[in-house]
Parts: sequence; C-alpha cells; structure tokens
Amino acid sequence: MNLPRIIAFASAIVAVALVSVTWTTLAQQPGTTAAATTSAPVRVALPKPRAEGGMPLMEALKKRQSARAFADRKLSDQTLSDLLWAAWGVNRQDGRHTAPSAMNRQEIDVYVAKADGLWLFNPKTHDLTLVADKDLRALTGRQDFVKDAAVNLVFVADYSRMDRSLTETDKAFYGGADTGFISQNVYLFCASEGLATVVRHLIDQPVLAKAMGLRDNQRITLAQSVGYAPAGE
Ligand SMILES: Cc1cc2nc3c(=O)[nH]c(=O)nc-3n(C[C@H](O)[C@H](O)[C@H](O)COP(=O)(O)O)c2cc1C
Repeated sequence: MNLPRIIAFASAIVAVALVSVTWTTLAQQPGTTAAATTSAPVRVALPKPRAEGGMPLMEALKKRQSARAFADRKLSDQTLSDLLWAAWGVNRQDGRHTAPSAMNRQEIDVYVAKADGLWLFNPKTHDLTLVADKDLRALTGRQDFVKDAAVNLVFVADYSRMDRSLTETDKAFYGGADTGFISQNVYLFCASEGLATVVRHLIDQPVLAKAMGLRDNQRITLAQSVGYAPAGE
C-alpha cells in the first residue's frame, strides 16, 4: 500500500471508531429513548421553587388522602416546579434531597408524564429533559382515571446506582422504600396545595417500561397521579 492509501485507510478507521463511540455515549444517557438520541436532548427550565410557606405540617397531615378523580385542568409551571422540589428536590448545599435514600444512593429518578410528553426531572439543575414527545399518561396505570390527571409521576429505581453485591430482593426493597418517602412528600404537598393525588402500583410495568425506553437495570417502583379534583369534590 502506498502512503496516500495508508492515510485514507487509517482515516476511515478513525471515523468509524468516532461514530461508534459517539453513538454509544448518547445511547447510555439515562432516560433517553432511541428517538431522543438523534439530536441534543430538549431541556426545559422550571421556575425557581417556592421552598417556603404552605400549610402547617399538622394540618397537611390531617388532610392527606388518596383521590381518584381528576378535572381537565393543567398544573401551572410554578406548581409543577414546587411539586417536584417537594417530592425529590435538592434541599442542602451537599446535594442531598427532601426525601432520604438508603446509604444516600439517590437511585430514584422521577419521570413526569404530562399531555405534552414524558419528562425526566433533574433535581440537581431543577429542570426537565424531554424523554418522549408523546402523551403517555394513559399507560402509567391500569385504572381509567390516570389518563385524566394533569401529571402522572413515575418513580424509577436505577439499579446501576446500587452495589452489585445486593440481591434483587434487597434492591427491590430499597427502591420501594426510598420511593415511599418521595411519595409521602407528594401527598403532603398536595394536601397543602389543595391538589388530588394517589400513589399507584397497579401498572402494566413491561408496557410502560418499553414506552418510556427504560434500560434493563431501571425498574418502575410506583406511579403517582396529581391534579385538580373535579368541581364539587
Ligand atoms: C404501595 C402502595 C400502592 C398502591 N397502589 C394503588 C393503586 O395501584 N391504585 C390505587 O387506586 N391506589 C393505590 N394505593 C393507594 C391506597 O389504596 C390508599 O393509600 C389506601 O386505600 C388508603 O387510603 P388513603 O391514602 O386515602 O389513606 C396504593 C398505596 C400504596 C401505599
């Protein structure tokens, strides 16, 4: 092979390697689907959360309850921002959250299914990344009302953030327990704000996981519908 041919051959190999590395990196971004990997992820800022005020804790505890009927009314961006901060926002300089997590693994991701798409909440930057530009609310549960809720939160445990030495049973336990604290934060926020909510495990998990583009080591733990109650309820 003469020199120009050797250079052309080497350039072709470098180009193929670069395309392969770029594709692998994009494909491994958490929460991205095949559709979302073809261009830069869409990120949307949330208003600064109003991390103050609200109902006194004992009153919110008195009002905490599950509700399964929702009005056709959206949450404002501010209310969504406050909800997500209450659920799983960062509340300290060291990056810890409003809910505890075993060994501070922070393995729960909060996805937000709204009419305009499925979003991943990024607590550190307090913004949302678009995961799918489809309305997936109806797929977030087996109950008919889920399609009506303004927002369905889907809690997902990322097993890759847990020690490999843990058994599947341990991982499921920690994922479930850590989700429970987030869910109760949502319940108390909703009680304080006059919103309707219910946490749910009746979910067709394989169908929802596929629609969300989850990886094998991501497990849906629970979902939670949030919205306004119909007038008179
Ligand atoms: C782990 C868990 C899973 C639940 N799954 C569902 C569900 O799939 N669908 C539903 O309508 N409610 C579900 N609930 C809500 C309970 O039915 C509800 O909390 C219970 O009836 C008590 O009512 P309260 O929350 O108003 O006190 C679940 C609650 C928990 C804690």
